[in-house]
Amino acid sequence: MKTVSIGMIGGGFAARLHGNSFRMVGGLQLRLRGVADVNPASAKKTAEEYGYEHYTTDYRELLSDPEIDVVILCTPPYLHPDMIIEALAAEKHVICEKPLTGYFGLPEDPDPIGDTVSKRKMYRTVQGDLKRLEQAVCSSKKRFMYAENYIYSPNIQRAAEFLRAKKSTITFLRGEESVQGSPTAGAGAWKNIGGGTLLRIGCHPLAGILYLKSVEAAAKGREISIREIVADTGRIAPTLSQTDRRYLMAHPQDVEDFGTMTLTFSDGTKATVFANDNVVGGIQNYIQIYCNDATMLCKITPTDSLQTYFLDSEGLDNVYLSENLSHKTGWNRAFVSESIERGYVAQLQDFMECVAYGREPLSGFSLAKQTIEALYAAYISAEEGRRVILPEL
Ligand SMILES: NC(=O)c1ccc[n+]([C@@H]2O[C@H](COP(=O)([O-])OP(=O)(O)OC[C@H]3O[C@@H](n4cnc5c(N)ncnc54)[C@H](O)[C@@H]3O)[C@@H](O)[C@H]2O)c1
Repeated sequence: MKTVSIGMIGGGFAARLHGNSFRMVGGLQLRLRGVADVNPASAKKTAEEYGYEHYTTDYRELLSDPEIDVVILCTPPYLHPDMIIEALAAEKHVICEKPLTGYFGLPEDPDPIGDTVSKRKMYRTVQGDLKRLEQAVCSSKKRFMYAENYIYSPNIQRAAEFLRAKKSTITFLRGEESVQGSPTAGAGAWKNIGGGTLLRIGCHPLAGILYLKSVEAAAKGREISIREIVADTGRIAPTLSQTDRRYLMAHPQDVEDFGTMTLTFSDGTKATVFANDNVVGGIQNYIQIYCNDATMLCKITPTDSLQTYFLDSEGLDNVYLSENLSHKTGWNRAFVSESIERGYVAQLQDFMECVAYGREPLSGFSLAKQTIEALYAAYISAEEGRRVILPEL
């Protein structure tokens, strides 16, 4: 059996999403070689929890380790571009968390950048990053894999199978990721994330939608690209009284906590993405697919697979029911196999096989690039109140 040796860079929340899937990968031996985190406590905790052979505070130790085949970048987004380029140069395969890149501020920018820097400047700067990254990826013998779990969610893959079989025409797609606010410290500041809720969580349904359109295009032997984008963003939480905000965790400073974007594709069909940080009742993740001859609803989380009704929460203190749910009593839709339902297991399986057998992933550079380009075009549209025709010059 082939062995793939892994180095994890960043030992926080996302490292756990990957870590929970390691033991579910089949047909390959995974060697958890090392984890690097600038915070030694996080590095140690992640190493001990998942059984990495060692931990360090210097990610370059992992890049220079000849035993490591692939690094997984679970670091804050502003570090992604340079780390990708450095890791490829060190001849490591790279798995990168979303977003691929973003605008995090330049030395001349006044604070806070989300309110002061024009989105057109951001778009152009991001385009420069994308060129740099594309060059690095294309000139490397190693693979770039984009950790977009939506693509690997079993219901998205099943819908893709039906699209291929029926050669249906998708007329409209609707996708949403909404939460009760981000638990990530600093999610309210543009300079940390590169945008607000539309980028931070809207990137998931957007990428899923772009993937499904690419499946349709391939099934028909056609090219379909994004032609136009119209978007709207806003900051809802600050308009509420402290009492009205008592259950919400969104604290937007210079970012949006609500965003929607409508794409028009080159074939004239449409898709709308919703992202909202002010939604109670648990995380919402879905894509609805309307075709000329079919309708499909991919409910990623929550599903209806297990519905629970508890009269009290006695004994449930340390039992995880589902993400973003503040109460365990009453009727709930409990997560059953989150790592599988959300696509993390199939994603890791695909990436590990790509490394072991030298093939391209389902989710690679092109999807990562299209997603971030579309998001920054959406920010221009929302700021300038106009329809953005791609490519925006
Ligand atoms: N796919 C998903 O569902 C999903 C979910 C959450 C986060 N993410 C993505 O994962 C990435 C990390 O987010 P997170 O929620 O894990 O954040 P986090 O803050 O929980 O973890 C990031 C870790 O990186 C460490 N770090 C910072 N600089 C570093 C450096 N130079 N070298 C090594 N480690 C460094 C930090 O100390 C921290 O422990 C982000 O890009 C985020 O968008 C993806």
